[in-house]
Amino acid sequence: MARVTIAPALFTPLMPVSLVGAQIDGKPNFMTVAWLTRVNFDPPMVGVAIGKRHHTPRGIQANKTFSVCLPNAELLEQTDYCGIVSGARVDKSGVFNVFYGDLETAPMIAECPLCVECALVRVVDLPSSHLFIGEVVTAHADESILTDGRPDPAKLDPLVLTMPDNHYWSLGAVAGTAWQAGKALKK
Ligand SMILES: Cc1cc2nc3c(=O)[nH]c(=O)nc-3n(C[C@H](O)[C@H](O)[C@H](O)COP(=O)(O)O)c2cc1C
Repeated sequence: MARVTIAPALFTPLMPVSLVGAQIDGKPNFMTVAWLTRVNFDPPMVGVAIGKRHHTPRGIQANKTFSVCLPNAELLEQTDYCGIVSGARVDKSGVFNVFYGDLETAPMIAECPLCVECALVRVVDLPSSHLFIGEVVTAHADESILTDGRPDPAKLDPLVLTMPDNHYWSLGAVAGTAWQAGKALKK
């Protein structure tokens, strides 16, 4: 296999697609975010990287709360829309049915099968983004996506973004079991 170097920015070819919500001037606003990851085990924390010019951070900074919802494939159009128009110019508060949880200022999306509300823990200043780290205070799941009380990826039907081709994908077949498959190589 011939190894070549490619543009450093091409290093993350696949990402989960989420919608990050914040309350801004009394209204919910949602933006599409693919730079999402779990960053701490206990308490559970997530990190979302958001460009400095976006509107959503205004609400996150003001309330010290935000939400992360995972849309399913049925919400592809609305999800993409929230990623191409800014709340600074367009009112996105009517795109989804919105509900609030314990934190009261982290708007969540009723149509999304899995949503978490987060309390802002830390903001990491990066050259063109802020990394917002939030503690997951409450997770809200639609019963229909649970198997034995846990989110079931097949029922969740999440969207995966690939770049640089900019495609949304659904999950494919299971390739193996994590923390298990490697045991075959253990001495
Ligand atoms: C599929 C997709 C993924 C995106 N992921 C991110 C991301 O991870 N971070 C980011 O800052 N912007 C991301 N964006 C761009 C923002 O969602 C977009 O600029 C949005 O209009 C910002 O909304 P706001 O100004 O209302 O906050 C993404 C857009 C799309 C379509």
